[in-house]
Amino acid sequence: MILAIETSCDDTCAAVLAPDGRRALSNVVHTQTEHARYGGVVPEVASRAHLERLDGVVERALADADVDLDDVTSVAVTVRPGLIGALLVGVSAAKGLAYARRLPLVPVDHLEGHVAAAYLARPDLEPPFVALIASGGHTALYWVGTDGMRLLGETLDDAAGEALDKGARMLGLGFPGGPEISRAAQNGDPARYDFPVGLRDKNNLDFSFSGLKTSLLYKLKALDEAGAREELPHLAAGYEAAVVEALSRKLLRAAEAHDAPAVVVAGGVAANGLLRRTLEEECGLRGLRLVIPPPGLCTDNAAMIGAAVPLSPAVPFPDYLALNARSV
Ligand code: KG4
Ligand code: ZN
Repeated sequence: MILAIETSCDDTCAAVLAPDGRRALSNVVHTQTEHARYGGVVPEVASRAHLERLDGVVERALADADVDLDDVTSVAVTVRPGLIGALLVGVSAAKGLAYARRLPLVPVDHLEGHVAAAYLARPDLEPPFVALIASGGHTALYWVGTDGMRLLGETLDDAAGEALDKGARMLGLGFPGGPEISRAAQNGDPARYDFPVGLRDKNNLDFSFSGLKTSLLYKLKALDEAGAREELPHLAAGYEAAVVEALSRKLLRAAEAHDAPAVVVAGGVAANGLLRRTLEEECGLRGLRLVIPPPGLCTDNAAMIGAAVPLSPAVPFPDYLALNARSV
């Protein structure tokens, strides 16, 4: 069995997977609630919370899978990119576990993990495909071939999730902002306000969300408090629609430009209902296979890290003691 650990941001995660990495037997996520009152993740608070929680989360992952440490044959862990202090907690725990049991350790790139979640959702999926990763820290398009991932385009400023989180904060909504904006947008008219879609007509595969944020700021400045409250559903709907349009437009453009038979969407923002519905429709029209893992595999989790094991070289015992986490 594979024991996988993920602590790159504000979720403390552990999972157990079958040896081929295509089936999760457990997937435990402890979401740190400590950050909510700050409206964003506080790195030092995250590391401390990981330190306090990780042992218990690993124990629960083993118990949920009904296995014990004797059944574990390799330990996988996110080594980059992320908050350095947060990553170090997971990497140190994984090193300790692997060393004590003389097991190999598999260092996993968080973004490759997000893409690998698609293999858990659809075990028959094979490269090539185009992948969109849209999370709180990243928004990027990749070509995924049999020989690995190649960057096609990325955000020039904020990540899509970051834009949703910042927009939610401006609208007086909670954190994380993505689900909050969706909820607020439920009865809103997305066409009531004109929000810019960054780099919409630029013939490239990059993203930009800073203009969208500024546009919301100006719209709010023009309203008084009561007006902003009244307009909230429409503002939220317009803002969400602009993010979704930017993401789906560039993903479809990438698939067309590279003649991809399938597209994968991963990362926390892939949990977004409007994005899912939009892409289901558009991919249906184009005969493109669309794979979006279920929401629990889209937001940060350790099962996706274990699913990247077949793609990531293992480091034998005890060479990994020299291994370091990296923020980028
Ligand atoms: O992948 P993830 O869990 O963590 C990072 O690696 O960043 O992504 C978190 C991001 C947050 O910005 C959050 O607002 C967004 O994903 N998110 C959503 C939804 N659920 C989470 N955005 C839109 N709709 C959702 N349902
Ligand atoms: Zn992530």
